[in-house]
Amino acid sequence: MSKTQFAEDVKEGLNSTPKRLSSKYFYDAKGDKLFQQIMQLEEYYLTRAELNIFQTQSQHLLDLFDSGGAFRIVELGAGDGMKTKVLLKYFQQKGADFSYCPVDISANVLEDLKRNILAELPHLKMEPLAGDYFKVLSELKFQNHKRNIAFFLGSNIGNFRKDLAIAFLSSIQQNLAKGDFLLIGFDLKKDPKRILSAYNDSQGVTRAFNMNLLQRINDELGGDFDLEAFDHNPIYDPMTGECRSYLIAKTPQKVHIKELNASYEFRAWEPIYMEVSKKYDLDEIADLAESTGFRVRENLFDQEQLFADSIWEVV
Ligand code: AVJ
Repeated sequence: MSKTQFAEDVKEGLNSTPKRLSSKYFYDAKGDKLFQQIMQLEEYYLTRAELNIFQTQSQHLLDLFDSGGAFRIVELGAGDGMKTKVLLKYFQQKGADFSYCPVDISANVLEDLKRNILAELPHLKMEPLAGDYFKVLSELKFQNHKRNIAFFLGSNIGNFRKDLAIAFLSSIQQNLAKGDFLLIGFDLKKDPKRILSAYNDSQGVTRAFNMNLLQRINDELGGDFDLEAFDHNPIYDPMTGECRSYLIAKTPQKVHIKELNASYEFRAWEPIYMEVSKKYDLDEIADLAESTGFRVRENLFDQEQLFADSIWEVV
């Protein structure tokens, strides 16, 4: 992501009413580390739940995936590949004919991932692909007749506004062929207290994760945000399933951002909308599949039914 894009998005967000910043900018080097810490938290159940699905249902997944012969796993935004590695290892032990194509914008991320995966699975057929998700998928579509299985894990779709989720998933569908699959992770609606504590952990890691974006604006754009003057405030709405986080100005204040040549006034208790992490129920998952050209083939759940990996086929 270029610095000018970051600057433009910050400018647009802080000029909006209500003010907002995009959670896609959480992930600088510091933010990546904080997210790694979040995944280790007792309260943050999502990662463990999805890992549980892979650990308990790998044979079932293999039966679905290899019903048409050789296949390719195309992981969109693989991160550290920790969860996927469990499946890859199992598939390899079973002698399945497949290859693993992690996709990321950053060639650096892919280099690290490749080293990490091949250290444990040296014989894996692995082809990391740097670039835009849709471009990479469209190139694979015409490569040969292997079944492509796109992975979009971790409830990353939860961070998309509804219209943007539909646009994103439709573009994925366009770049898959008939018979291909999308495996997509959804965090499920559940006890609001459980959800809220995942985004309001007792150690304050999620707070730091949100605050880090203000720090990033200070560091990269010459801002003068006083982090002490903001409070981290996540809320969960059981009607919409939206868990939203806000940073709220505790006092009236003015923030200057040099690179933007602009100052922003905050009223006392004025929020900046930082992130949405939407929770789904099964009807909403089916609706989303249908409105983007897919059909739900099957939903797989962890043992506590906290999370679903939904397997969609292109219709
Ligand atoms: C990486 C988008 C799945 O929304 O749960 C974790 C990011 N934000 N804690 C999520 C996040 C606050 C996470 N995703």
